[in-house]
Amino acid sequence: MARVIVVGTGIAGLITAYRASAHHEVVLVTKSELAESNTKYAQGGIAAVLFPDDTVASHVSDTMIAGAGLCERDAVEVLCSEGPLRVQELISLGVEFDRIANGELARGHEAAHSSRRVIHAGGDATGLAIEVALLRAVRALAVETYAYTFMRDLVTEADADGTPRVTGIDVIAPDGNSRVIDGDIVVLASGGAGQLYKHTTNPFVTTGDGVAAAYRAGAALADVEFFQFHPTSLAVPGNPLVSEAVRGEGATLLDENGKRFMFDVHPDGELAPRDVVARGIARAMEKQGGRPIMLDATALGSEFLAKRFPGISEVCEEHGFDWGTQPIPVTPAAHYWMGGIRTDIDGRTSVRGLYAVGEASCTGVHGANRLASNSLLESLVFAWRAADALNLPQRAIEVDALEPQFEITGKEPFTRDQLRELMWSHVGLERDATRLEEASAILASWHSEPNTVEGAENANLLDLARLVVVAALRRKESRGAHERTDFPETRPELAFSTRWAAVNVAGD
Ligand code: SIN
Repeated sequence: MARVIVVGTGIAGLITAYRASAHHEVVLVTKSELAESNTKYAQGGIAAVLFPDDTVASHVSDTMIAGAGLCERDAVEVLCSEGPLRVQELISLGVEFDRIANGELARGHEAAHSSRRVIHAGGDATGLAIEVALLRAVRALAVETYAYTFMRDLVTEADADGTPRVTGIDVIAPDGNSRVIDGDIVVLASGGAGQLYKHTTNPFVTTGDGVAAAYRAGAALADVEFFQFHPTSLAVPGNPLVSEAVRGEGATLLDENGKRFMFDVHPDGELAPRDVVARGIARAMEKQGGRPIMLDATALGSEFLAKRFPGISEVCEEHGFDWGTQPIPVTPAAHYWMGGIRTDIDGRTSVRGLYAVGEASCTGVHGANRLASNSLLESLVFAWRAADALNLPQRAIEVDALEPQFEITGKEPFTRDQLRELMWSHVGLERDATRLEEASAILASWHSEPNTVEGAENANLLDLARLVVVAALRRKESRGAHERTDFPETRPELAFSTRWAAVNVAGD
């Protein structure tokens, strides 16, 4: 039996804790309240092959096409073939997915899926339903839990062969004091870094703490230049998500002349791949002086909208919009980071004893552009596998990684808003060398002391912003979510994922 520290309490962390606790002593750590995570806000649903008219091959193909040449087929095959079984486990754990009158699961549709394979709960509250059920399951087990406990860094020591091994985490406890929690294994399920950007659908907790800590500990990261922007967040402060499933049900996008413009951009119109729609909207907004595009769901009717999308209906109402009778203003917002800590299909990283699951990881299933509703599935499938792999002898994976060369010239303090503004304007939906170089110089001059939670979060965001810029500069092409206006073509010879490590811990 090992002592396993799981950091993060979204679907990936809770599944790992649930599954691992059968064989190990599990310590669950989160920096906020237990239920707070990106999972809780997931609306559209979870994609899986659950219906006789669908096939694993078709889900694999849709995922690979969306990923724009960078998905890893073996990981995608694991995702799509094990997904249905894992969804059945969720149902056994008490997640009540929506059903139609005859009792069958209700099927939603989202962009770039060739079949209606997205199941949902509570209409548009899928993530919340999963979070509540999993928390209930984990609370019933003997799991040692620390809320409001911030992981500042991983603690490592050198093994006999000189390679680092994780031995615990350094935390800021709720009373503000530092302490170390010892463990034989650490599983990072600490989510993404939506807070890098001024506009994001992600909650405040998404400051990439696990990815930044893993990077500082020498773990290889991958695909960090690929950040997915969701096409439709409500154009109000906080950018609440307006699910792609709304367009899946038939809502349309209109510019301020009332023109349905997406068919001028892509033959699939509003249901083109997510990166295409997000850029289509951004360009249409630019033509109209930056003012938001309108999402017209009125044809669906107030009654249907209230029943199918109760959460979005409530948010619209809070902001004074009656979306059953009037189009609502929407804008793209940072939503999901395809990049993260490089893992194999069992969550192993390039540091011994360190695992990563969920959005913090980069398993290779999303490539350059994640297919809608594949993220809850990825967390579920790969956290399950990682928990099972903990029972095997520990080993690190070998990763051939580049060492990023940062120029860090200054010690200037900065505010989080400054960083988010810079990333949005210089490293957002469209990039070019001039803006990336400018961002790089500004980021080089900043510094944050990690002696408070806020200071440490800002230091993490700064480390990650620098990495995103280095990787975005290096990728001199446009692919998936990474659009270089100075390199608009996709270059077949660059169809590989780039890995980065502070120190090349393994090499191959
Ligand atoms: C959405 O509901 O549009 C988000 C689904 C996802 O990001 O996978």
